[in-house]
Amino acid sequence: MQSTPEAAPKAGAAREEQVQQIFSEIAPRYDLLNHVLSLNIDKSWRRRAVDTLEWEGRADGTYLDACAGTYDLALELAKRPSFRGDVVASDFAQPMLAEGLGKITEASIRPVCGDSLRLPFGDDVFDGATVGFGVRNLARLEQGLAEFQRVLKPGRRLVVLEFTVPPNPIVRAGYHMYFHHVLPVVGRIVSGHPWAYTYLPESVKEFPGPQALSELFESAGFGETGWKLVSGGIAAIHWGRA
Ligand SMILES: C[S@@+](CC[C@H](N)C(=O)[O-])C[C@H]1O[C@@H](n2cnc3c(N)ncnc32)[C@H](O)[C@@H]1O
Repeated sequence: MQSTPEAAPKAGAAREEQVQQIFSEIAPRYDLLNHVLSLNIDKSWRRRAVDTLEWEGRADGTYLDACAGTYDLALELAKRPSFRGDVVASDFAQPMLAEGLGKITEASIRPVCGDSLRLPFGDDVFDGATVGFGVRNLARLEQGLAEFQRVLKPGRRLVVLEFTVPPNPIVRAGYHMYFHHVLPVVGRIVSGHPWAYTYLPESVKEFPGPQALSELFESAGFGETGWKLVSGGIAAIHWGRA
């Protein structure tokens, strides 16, 4: 599938505008496309991400889900039977937060419209933080990681769930076929957006691999970092301690 100039990930302020525009425009179809295009596997990835958060030690704590979109990752934590805390769900695309409001039956989720590169929170306030499929979209990744580090209480975990490129050549070939040929077409038809679902594979292609991302966690001040690949390396779960 031919890329278009609009779909190529931009840099700096133009990237922020591009990302905000994409998610604001696809918000009404985001959930449907998410589950259809991932064949519902995304649910199990979010489950595993929350399993990695170590929230059980502070079940009544305050957690951040940054780049929260329509709250699927925030809900995964808030709905855990023994969870008694709060989840602050922040995103800079207001239409995404608005679209997901109907799913929030948990009073413990608090939506906040805010930019992950300039989080509207004080230092050392959260007992844990998650980001699902968000960091790849950040115009300045290092700045975003530093912000997550700043708002976390010392010793608490950041967990990042993100797409990556599978290391196995056979899985990678299938992945390329799907991501670059099937997904943009289905995405365009269902969302009605001409290029948003071409941006997605393009943004994965230019995103650092797990080892490089793990090193960026360390440069941002996180310790005890690690990652695991899920579903043959289509996605990865990263963690680090503030
Ligand atoms: C692919 S969606 C993921 C939503 C949700 N976390 C999930 O797991 O489905 C990426 C979200 O990140 C948000 N986002 C990207 N860059 C952001 C930034 N700088 N500040 C806040 N939100 C951002 C977008 O608006 C979008 O809602």
